[in-house]
Amino acid sequence: MAQLSVNINKIATLRNARGGNMPNVVKAAIDIEGFGAQGITVHPRPDERHITYQDVRDLSKVVSTEFNIEGNPNPKFIDLVLEVKPHQVTLVPDAIDAITSNAGWDTKTHKNYLREIIHLFKSNNIRTSIFVDPDVDMVSHAKDTGTDRIELYTEDYAKTYFKNRDLAIENYVLASKEAYSLGIGINAGHDLSLENIEFFSQSISNLKEVSIGHALICESLYLGLETVVKSYLSKLSS
Ligand code: PXP
Repeated sequence: MAQLSVNINKIATLRNARGGNMPNVVKAAIDIEGFGAQGITVHPRPDERHITYQDVRDLSKVVSTEFNIEGNPNPKFIDLVLEVKPHQVTLVPDAIDAITSNAGWDTKTHKNYLREIIHLFKSNNIRTSIFVDPDVDMVSHAKDTGTDRIELYTEDYAKTYFKNRDLAIENYVLASKEAYSLGIGINAGHDLSLENIEFFSQSISNLKEVSIGHALICESLYLGLETVVKSYLSKLSS
């Protein structure tokens, strides 16, 4: 069974909208683990608009499942990861102004750069994963970077799923077979949701981990709204 790593960036975004510490990111992480998730993912961006660097430090002291830090390996990010030493680092080529990650690595062009950074993290006993599109060629070049795992970028899958799920999964099956044959572990993430996760996990054998944030937090709001609205009504009527 693939492990679920919950990306808690959105909880920090909500907190940052008001200042203060509600919702409390550290408490949320501990509770998410208590509910059974096998990992916590954070994606600190240089402008710290979601998770802050201090959040990452605070979380590293309490996360007892797998701690995964993802991001573009700029010098500040590299220093933070080496300081915190999470179980896994996921390297993502996101631009500073990107709303969210929007492409996988070109593992052919950036092979030497990735190899150097991956070596640095691995020599500090941090497992490495790199974000890649579901492209057999990119997966095969990923092997030369020395990475332990790849994270398949699932936005295309999620977009096509409702039109034609068999078509949506095709490239992911091919890419994951290539990764498996090369001895690279397979993670996946982006736009996975309660609606599309089951077919994905059933179709990709050897899937080790999914990292899910946006949909999971939106779904939590909807699934919780009824209870909370009724709780307010009950308080108002007492
Ligand atoms: N994986 C990577 C590399 C990401 O950048 C993100 C979003 O921060 C995710 C997974 C999770 O995507 P989503 O929030 O759509 O579940």
